[in-house]
Amino acid sequence: MPNPFQAVPPSSRVEGLSDLRAVASAPGKLILFGEHAIVYGHPAIAAVTNQRTEVEVDRCGDRFTVNGYRIHERYHSYLKKAVEHVWKHDDPIRIQTEGGVPSASGTGSSAALTVATVAALMQLDGQQDEEGNHDLAKLAQLSFEVERLTQGGGSPIDTSTSTAGGGIAIGGKPPGIGDPLWDITWEDHAWSVERIALPELSIVVGNSGVKGKTDEQVAKVARGVQRNPLVREALADIGKLSHEAIPALKANDYVAIGELMNKAHSALHTIGVNHPALQKLVDVVRDVPGTYGAKITGAGGGGSIAVLTDKPYRAARAIEEAGGTPYQITIGGPGVEWADMATVP
Ligand code: PMV
Repeated sequence: MPNPFQAVPPSSRVEGLSDLRAVASAPGKLILFGEHAIVYGHPAIAAVTNQRTEVEVDRCGDRFTVNGYRIHERYHSYLKKAVEHVWKHDDPIRIQTEGGVPSASGTGSSAALTVATVAALMQLDGQQDEEGNHDLAKLAQLSFEVERLTQGGGSPIDTSTSTAGGGIAIGGKPPGIGDPLWDITWEDHAWSVERIALPELSIVVGNSGVKGKTDEQVAKVARGVQRNPLVREALADIGKLSHEAIPALKANDYVAIGELMNKAHSALHTIGVNHPALQKLVDVVRDVPGTYGAKITGAGGGGSIAVLTDKPYRAARAIEEAGGTPYQITIGGPGVEWADMATVP
């Protein structure tokens, strides 16, 4: 069976069909280093995971729907914002989603959903060039705007990672550790996104089951930044760890990467985004043979930890026994992809 997400020459497209519907998919992400610090312009490093969300949009219905239900702010906040922000025509959009990225786990489910939706809408709007290529910088910018308008805060790390695929470095100033991809702006803020090469890392994500809300954690850190110099120092330290991680990642040095992850976890604790349920998972998994390092990944306050291990099965079992939900993931792989509508049934 042909893979509908493989690039195909434009000549094989079915004339007309692409005007009516479009399908795109986008991956989740894992922040290796730099969460929260990136909000203050310090560099961060993230990579896509092998979990993906697929979105189909069409202009064949007579009202705006999501998976058959009328679109509603309360249940479809990202999707509603994406349609309002990107779709400038009068005809209603029907959206079908198929999510492979677990929600509220720090692995980028809302970014995957947003990027896939914006990508599908751009395709439906005919924004690709003659060869069928899309403007990824524009997609990353629009997706960030949708996330920001929905969440009210945060950085473009999730949406840019999901768009770009592979691994990225991102910072308020060009991190200068990879090849420039694009810049993202919001009011008087700007971020530079760079492509970095990452080794294939075996990561186990442990979801604590406690829902961590990104906007609440970002707001909590903002209060700390105003009141406490230790929080400001810890955020700068987190940014330095992103720089230190580059040679370790290049050398595929698990011991060095693991140590840096442990240091990042301590700094995230200092800025106040740890949670007893996360610390329990970190403590348990650090005692498991094969573990090189473990840290909060994403906003914290709940959500997930990331574990670098060469014995993923053992790490996963320990997380499960401690009450968490483990996901074994690989990082790297493609970013956003559009389906060739000629092969989609
Ligand atoms: O909660 P997540 O996985 O979307 O990660 C958020 C990362 C933060 O740095 C805390 C916020 C941001 O948008 O950069």
